[in-house]
Amino acid sequence: MRAPQHDESLEPILSSGGVIEPPLGYFAALAEKCRERGMLLIVDEAQTGLCRTGTWYAFERDGIVPDILTLSKTLGAGLPLAAIVTSEEIERRAHERGYLFYTTHVSDPLVAAVGNTVLDVLRAQELDARARELGEYLRAGLVAIKERHPAVGDVRGRGLMQGVELAAAEGGADALGARITRRCLELGLHLNVVQLPGMGGTFRIAPPLTATREELALGLEMLDQAIADTSGRAGG
Ligand SMILES: Cc1ncc(COP(=O)(O)O)c(C=O)c1O
Repeated sequence: MRAPQHDESLEPILSSGGVIEPPLGYFAALAEKCRERGMLLIVDEAQTGLCRTGTWYAFERDGIVPDILTLSKTLGAGLPLAAIVTSEEIERRAHERGYLFYTTHVSDPLVAAVGNTVLDVLRAQELDARARELGEYLRAGLVAIKERHPAVGDVRGRGLMQGVELAAAEGGADALGARITRRCLELGLHLNVVQLPGMGGTFRIAPPLTATREELALGLEMLDQAIADTSGRAGG
């Protein structure tokens, strides 16, 4: 076995990169490659973790268990809280090797209490199942929008993390994405469009896990309207 050069870190669904979901089997193969090379597999679930994709962690779909899991964002319900989750063995070895991590708020009991409450609420309200059900509803609505508008090229994602990619349009998908985003805001919908140059034609849609069907329906209606108003190519 070769000495490991570095460890591998991945996002189960590339969110800011355009809501890209690698196919089933990809991560299992990657985990195997990591094992072969003596590398640790680090899974970053800052965006996908804590029920968002319909399971507690997105890696569950792939039947893998990361050596290190990183969490952030929703863990603190708006407060700055992140977590590194690992095995006792890895923690012990990191400690023995003098690994040191410092920030002002390291081990802050206030945000830790908030994080524990977030976990309790997710469990008590079974928000993984809710994200699955609402995700299906949202997905069906987005697919219906795609069928109505040739400007929409693809709908993808899992649970309450969905991406809507615009097809190439006159002036580019980036420009159309910006127009639709502006029109949505006028109609009352805040929509997040991927900011990377050349990839600006993908909307990232990740509503709260506590959203109602009525709220999702309203959002879908506004998006449908905004695309019709700006793409000028709505189908029948
Ligand atoms: C996938 C992913 N990982 C990590 C981070 C960083 O999170 P934080 O700034 O809370 O540490 C982000 C922030 O956008 C992210 O999208």
